[in-house]
Amino acid sequence: MDLDPKLSLMALMLVAFAGLATASSFISDDVLAPRGSGGRSLLQAKTDCPVNIQFLNYTIITSQCKGPRYPADLCCGAFKELACPIATELNDVTNYCATTLFSYITVHGNYPPGLFASECRDDKEGLVCPASAPQSQEDASSGYMNRQSIMSVIFLACGVVLKCGSSWPLKVAGSQMSLLGASMACRRIQKELQDLQRDPPASCSAGPVGEDLFHWQATIMGPSDSPYAGGVFFVTIHFPPDYPFKPPMVNFQTKVYHPNINSNGSICLDILKDQWSPALTISKVLLSVSSLLTDPNPDDPLVPEIAHMYNNHRRRYEEMARSWTQKHAMG
Ligand SMILES: *[C@@H]1O[C@H](CO)[C@@H](O)[C@H](O)[C@H]1NC(C)=O
Ligand SMILES: *[C@@H]1O[C@H](CO)[C@@H](O)[C@H](O)[C@H]1NC(C)=O
Repeated sequence: MDLDPKLSLMALMLVAFAGLATASSFISDDVLAPRGSGGRSLLQAKTDCPVNIQFLNYTIITSQCKGPRYPADLCCGAFKELACPIATELNDVTNYCATTLFSYITVHGNYPPGLFASECRDDKEGLVCPASAPQSQEDASSGYMNRQSIMSVIFLACGVVLKCGSSWPLKVAGSQMSLLGASMACRRIQKELQDLQRDPPASCSAGPVGEDLFHWQATIMGPSDSPYAGGVFFVTIHFPPDYPFKPPMVNFQTKVYHPNINSNGSICLDILKDQWSPALTISKVLLSVSSLLTDPNPDDPLVPEIAHMYNNHRRRYEEMARSWTQKHAMG
């Protein structure tokens, strides 16, 4: 039959539009950088996430998005691969999906706060999902429930709520003992936070990132009697679910030229490893890290070249430390 070419063109365009509308979706900017304070959003009763966020395959992100550079294309591509199949649920501000997802991403990848919000931006509407995003969440998440994800669930039960009540989602926890442990950790962390706010140390500050009580960010001022003077050093703190029986994981985010701190921000400090004691607190840990800046321990180096420099060419070591401080820890 004979169709009016204009009409058929219109029909074609309609079909194309319909195709676009169903095949592609967005992840809204609010998912990456929620507006409004955590406190306010907590007051609105949010509902549990209908998707099993803990079963997603976080290897997709951790295998591609790596420090110290965290390449934006790889990180955002991996983030989309993980998040696009559940874009609808994530964009819904009345549930905990987005918060929960970011807590898990942080737990698995130890990423600096705000990484994805600062790196991932496509468009006014948010992140554009590829048209062929897999629709079934089963594909992305074929079950791997190991000990770590069980721990993370417990971890989140506390992290998301910022309160240590007894009314956690008991159904998610496999073991009552672990739940008890996490509850103890939660109370202890809360107490440390209160003490820090009441009596803040002179040269450091610390507090939770967002609504996750187990993930903090801290700052340490470069000690005035060290080549790090004038610098402000950012540090991430992750509390294990069995804190204070296990030490917190403390990492520099700011680059530091130091024999006991490597390019990944790992710190070689005995109290963060075998010399940890439950009597220690974050406040004491930060003060120890600060005194490590003043007095490096070249006998137990994490970066042998810098230890060699410290032992044999002290002036050059100081110059390097000062210049890295100026470059990475000021302004
Ligand atoms: C998770 O993702 C990684 C990287 O994409 C893949 O190699 C692995 O097979 C996936 N694991 C599962 C259980 O699907
Ligand atoms: C930094 O971390 C990566 C990934 O965990 C690791 O492969 C690498 O060896 C680390 N670098 C240093 C200097 O420890």
